[in-house]
Amino acid sequence: MTYAKILGTGSFLPANRVSNDDLAQKVDTSDEWIVTRTGIRHRHVAAENELTSDLAVQAALKAIDSSGLDKNDIDLIIVATTTPDKTFPSTACIVQQKLGMPGVAAFDVQAVCAGFMYALTTAHAYILAGLAKNALVIGAETFTRLLDWNDRRTCVLFGDGAGAVVLGKSETEGGIMQAKLQADGNYAHILETPGVIHGGEIVGSPYVYMDGQAVFKFAVKTLAKIGKQVIDDAGLTADDVDWVVPHQANLRIIESTAKHLGLSMDKIILTVQDQGNTSAASIPLALDLGVRDGRIKRGDVVLLEGIGGGFAWGAVLLRY
Ligand code: ACO
Repeated sequence: MTYAKILGTGSFLPANRVSNDDLAQKVDTSDEWIVTRTGIRHRHVAAENELTSDLAVQAALKAIDSSGLDKNDIDLIIVATTTPDKTFPSTACIVQQKLGMPGVAAFDVQAVCAGFMYALTTAHAYILAGLAKNALVIGAETFTRLLDWNDRRTCVLFGDGAGAVVLGKSETEGGIMQAKLQADGNYAHILETPGVIHGGEIVGSPYVYMDGQAVFKFAVKTLAKIGKQVIDDAGLTADDVDWVVPHQANLRIIESTAKHLGLSMDKIILTVQDQGNTSAASIPLALDLGVRDGRIKRGDVVLLEGIGGGFAWGAVLLRY
């Protein structure tokens, strides 16, 4: 049998850390409002010359280093991002070039905040199919570029960053046990950037639009359901799960989902307070934190799950 295991993790945040009080100087908001509704206290914002690929490369270098592999052992690069450096080439190709890995297959996946779930599941499938041996899977975003800094309903929620894992082929049991992806385009209108490029111009708003309450309800219902599905399909119960690494959209969504799943908040790795919602980067950023601070240990059962615009969502259950 072939299995796919996480061999190493890495993450990177831009140096510029922005507090709620900093934002309150620009828009009509307050630390109290933001913390109460979202749990967010800070977020990191990329500098003008810092591209998604730059953040991705830093996270990737740490993941490769911690995997114990040489970069030449890697034969697949997948980058999950909503904020590519350019429409094309893919950010994965730019990352490949910056890492000096010519010839390695490289492509992006776009599933917004569920992007890392889609990328990890794709890498898993490549490894099980014998199409790749070791995959570098990255979630990287400069999501704040999509924000209208005058719109207090959205600009307080997001941040920039990158996280990465090296997923490797193994003959010994363990690694990814279950992976499930779902989507429903009927909900595209509750979270989107409405603008489209036409005639060399963006027609419609290029900024994030969100119906916050609709997103909240849909996210909790859907994440609880898919989380339960992968736990059931693995023949396990919530008690068997050691750690949950959820997409870090906001604390209230995470708390409600944990409650629906019957999981204590002590088992949840949280970064949302320090990083805000970094879209496709949030899950690998939180995973790296949990691994590096020693909470997530080899052999632990870990549930990763995320949801975002599309709507698209997914969950992965693995033995770390
Ligand atoms: N500061 C102060 N007041 C604000 C702010 C702000 N930053 N944002 C909105 N308000 C005001 C609104 O203008 C409104 O005022 P009004 O009544 O005078 O019009 C009031 O607060 C209530 O607005 P609501 O939108 O009803 O606030 P709600 O309680 O729903 O909280 C929030 C908004 C935090 C966005 C909530 O709906 C939520 O958490 N939704 C989930 C969205 C999310 O996490 N999205 C992430 C992207 S999707 C994903 O990753 C899954």
